[in-house]
Amino acid sequence: MVVSGPITPGQVSFLLGVIPVFVTWIYSEYLEYKKNSSPTKLHSDTNLDELGKDTIKEDDRAVLLETGLTKSASAKFHASSVKMNLIRFLTMDDSFLLENRATLRAMAEFGLILFYFYICDRTDLLGASTKNYNRDLFIFLFMLLLIVSAMTSLKKHNDTSSFSVRSMLYLNRHQTEEWKGWMQVLFLMYHYFAATEIYNSIRVFIAAYVWMTGFGNFSYYYIRKDFSLPRFAQMMWRLNFFVAFCCIVLNNDYMLYYICPMHTLFTLMVYGALGIYNKYNEVRSVMAAKFVACFLVVILIWEIPGFFELFWSPFAFFLGYTDPAKPDAPRMHEWHFRSGLDRYIWIVGMIYAYFHPNVEKWMEKLEECEIKRKVTIKTIIVSVSLFVGYLWYEYIYKLDKVSYNKLHPYTSWIPITVYICLRNFTQHIRNFSLTLFAWLGKITLETYISQFHIWLRSNVPNGQPKWLLSFIPQYPMLNFMLTTALYVLVSHRLFELTNTLKTVFLPTKDNRKLLHNFIAGVAISVSLYCIALILIQIPHSTV
Ligand SMILES: *[C@@H]1O[C@H](CO)[C@@H](O)[C@H](O)[C@H]1NC(C)=O
Ligand SMILES: *[C@@H]1O[C@H](CO)[C@@H](O)[C@H](O)[C@H]1NC(C)=O
Repeated sequence: MVVSGPITPGQVSFLLGVIPVFVTWIYSEYLEYKKNSSPTKLHSDTNLDELGKDTIKEDDRAVLLETGLTKSASAKFHASSVKMNLIRFLTMDDSFLLENRATLRAMAEFGLILFYFYICDRTDLLGASTKNYNRDLFIFLFMLLLIVSAMTSLKKHNDTSSFSVRSMLYLNRHQTEEWKGWMQVLFLMYHYFAATEIYNSIRVFIAAYVWMTGFGNFSYYYIRKDFSLPRFAQMMWRLNFFVAFCCIVLNNDYMLYYICPMHTLFTLMVYGALGIYNKYNEVRSVMAAKFVACFLVVILIWEIPGFFELFWSPFAFFLGYTDPAKPDAPRMHEWHFRSGLDRYIWIVGMIYAYFHPNVEKWMEKLEECEIKRKVTIKTIIVSVSLFVGYLWYEYIYKLDKVSYNKLHPYTSWIPITVYICLRNFTQHIRNFSLTLFAWLGKITLETYISQFHIWLRSNVPNGQPKWLLSFIPQYPMLNFMLTTALYVLVSHRLFELTNTLKTVFLPTKDNRKLLHNFIAGVAISVSLYCIALILIQIPHSTV
C-alpha cells in the first residue's frame, strides 16, 4: 500500500482519539447485548443489590428512549461534570457506556467514515480514472434525474398564506431547498465531468447559495431574535465541524473547501449586522443604516486596493491556500478571489428577506384581484423577467470566464431575481416542489466536502480533485453509478451524524455547560496533539 505524503501529528492524534472511542463503542454494544440476551441471568443472579442496580439502569434507559436521546443525554451530562464523564469513559464504567452507547456509535461511525475518506483519496488501494466531458451525456443525466424526481417526488404543499410568518418560512424551506438541490446536482456534475463550458453558470449557483445565506439567516434572526451563544455555537458547528475533521485527517487547508469559510464569513456578517443594536431592528431607518453599513464594509475590504491583504493577514494561517499545481500563487489569492466574487450578494439576500413580507402581502392581494387584471400584471412580470434574463444571458453570461468574473459581483443578482420571479409567478407553481431535490438540498454541505475524496480524487494534500475515484475500471458508467450511490449515502449519514453529535455536545439551555464542553474539547485535542507530536519523533530519534 502506497501512502502519499508523510503522516502528520494531526492524523496521529485523530487515530489516538478515535481508537479508544471505537473500542469502547464495541464494548458498549457487547454490554447491551449481554443485558438484553440474558433473562436467565436475572434468575440466576440472586444478588439483590445487583438486581436493584439493573432496574435503575433499565429505568434510565426507558427515560432515554422516551425523551429521545438528545434531551436526556444533555440532562445527564449536566448532572455529572465533564471531568466525571471523562473518568467514567476512561475506566470503561459499564453504566456510562450503556447510557451513551448511541453517542459512542455516532462518534465511531464518524471516525470510520473519515478513515474511508483517507483510504479512497490518499492510498492506492482504489483506482483513479480521468474525467471525460460529453455534453450530450451531461444533459441526458440531468434531464433523467429531473424526470425521475418529477414523476416520483412532486409534492404540493397546502399552506394557505393566512399565517403570514409561518407560511413564509415554510414555503421558503421547500423552495429554497429544492433550489439548492438542483443547483448542487449541476455543480457536482460540473466537477465530475469537468464541464468547463458551464463555468459561468456555476458562478451564478454559488452566488445563489450565498444569496440564500443572507436571505435565510436574515429571516431567522429578524423574526426569532435569537442571538444567544448556544444558537451561535450550533451554527458554527453545523458549518465547520465536519470540514475541520477533513482538514485534520486529510492534511488539507481549510481554504481547499472554500465554500465553508465563505459561508461562515457571510453568516457571521449577517449575524453581526442584525445582532449589533438588535433592539432597534424594528426601526426602519436603523435597518436602512445597517444595509448601508454592510455595503460600506464590503467596499472598504474588497474594493480598496491593498486593504484586503492587510485586513486578513492575521488570519492568513487558516485562510491561506497553495494549490500544489500552482506553487507560486500568493497564499491569500484563493480567499480574495472566492470571497470577492460573492461579496455583495448576501446583502441583496438580506434586503430581499427584509421586504419579503411586503411582497408576500402584495402577491396575496394580486391573487384576489379579478382575473383580467391579475393575468395582465403577471404577464407583464413574466415578460419583463424573461427579457431581462435574455439581456443578461446575451451580454454578460456569454462573456469568457475572466471578463465574466469581473462583472459577476455586480450582476449576479439579475439571474437570481429572474429565477425568483419565474419560480413564484403563480400560486400553483409556488405550492409545488420536487422533494427529491429538496432532500439533496439539505445535504449540500456534506456532498460538497465529500466529493473531493470519495467521489473524485485529489491524491495529494491540498490538491484539487482532478481524478475520479474508480472501483470498476473500464466501466465508467457503472463506476459512476456505484461511487455516486455510496457517496450520496455517506453524505447523508454525515449530515445526520453532525446533527446527532451537535445535540449531544452543544447543550441549548446551559451556557456554563457549553463553555465546559468547549474547554474540555480544546484540552483533549491539545493533549492528543502533544502525545502525537512525541510519538512522531520516536522513529526519527531511534533510526
Ligand atoms: C445560515 O446560513 C448557513 C450557510 O449557508 C446555512 O447553513 C444555515 O442553514 C442558515 N441558517 C438559517 C437559519 O437559515
Ligand atoms: C420565490 O421563490 C424563492 C425560491 O425559489 C423563494 O426563496 C422566495 O422567497 C419566493 N418569493 C416569494 C415572494 O414568495
